[in-house]
Amino acid sequence: MVSVLAAAGSAPSVGLSEPWRLVRVESRTCRAAVIANFEAANADALADQDEDRNEAYAALKLAGLQEAPVHLAVFCDEQTTQGGGLGAATMPEMRRYSVVCAVMQMWLSARALGLGMGWVSILDPARVVDDLDVSADWSLIAYLCIGWPLEEHLDCELERAGWEQRRRVQDRVLIR
Ligand SMILES: Cc1cc2nc3c(=O)[nH]c(=O)nc-3n(C[C@H](O)[C@H](O)[C@H](O)COP(=O)(O)O)c2cc1C
Repeated sequence: MVSVLAAAGSAPSVGLSEPWRLVRVESRTCRAAVIANFEAANADALADQDEDRNEAYAALKLAGLQEAPVHLAVFCDEQTTQGGGLGAATMPEMRRYSVVCAVMQMWLSARALGLGMGWVSILDPARVVDDLDVSADWSLIAYLCIGWPLEEHLDCELERAGWEQRRRVQDRVLIR
């Protein structure tokens, strides 16, 4: 885990603001709150599915919260003064994108070690801020489940489940 966290710390960030804030969620109470949050958000998402997708959605495994030994909540400090606001005046969302860079670095570093990492986004983010008792200036970017994978696959789970397909990136490149 130390090298996975170090990978986050070496990510690029707007104005070197390093706006990532990482919370290792270890207490039973906090984990139970996040699991309840996921279950509620996932039930809402299931209810919102079109009828023809309902059954397929219900069959997807969309979080490893019960199984993962490591839970990491990743926030963006929207009010950090580090970096003096450089690069974020017209696009303050660059701070959040910097945090996504840190998540991606952790993801690649975890996979290089053979660890699995799942990004859980089916959550009410404000409730996570409350339940983990962190600053109201922090916004949730990612809730990560990290552990040794039970299975290894080269293809994508959502493709295997028939939910969605990867498209050719060439078809998404425009020339002007
Ligand atoms: C921002 C983001 C949020 C995601 N949220 C979830 C999630 O809530 N639950 C889940 O099972 N997978 C989640 N994923 C994983 C994607 O479903 C997965 O990356 C995608 O299907 C491609 O599969 P692959 O990463 O195995 O190639 C998320 C990925 C990203 C980048």
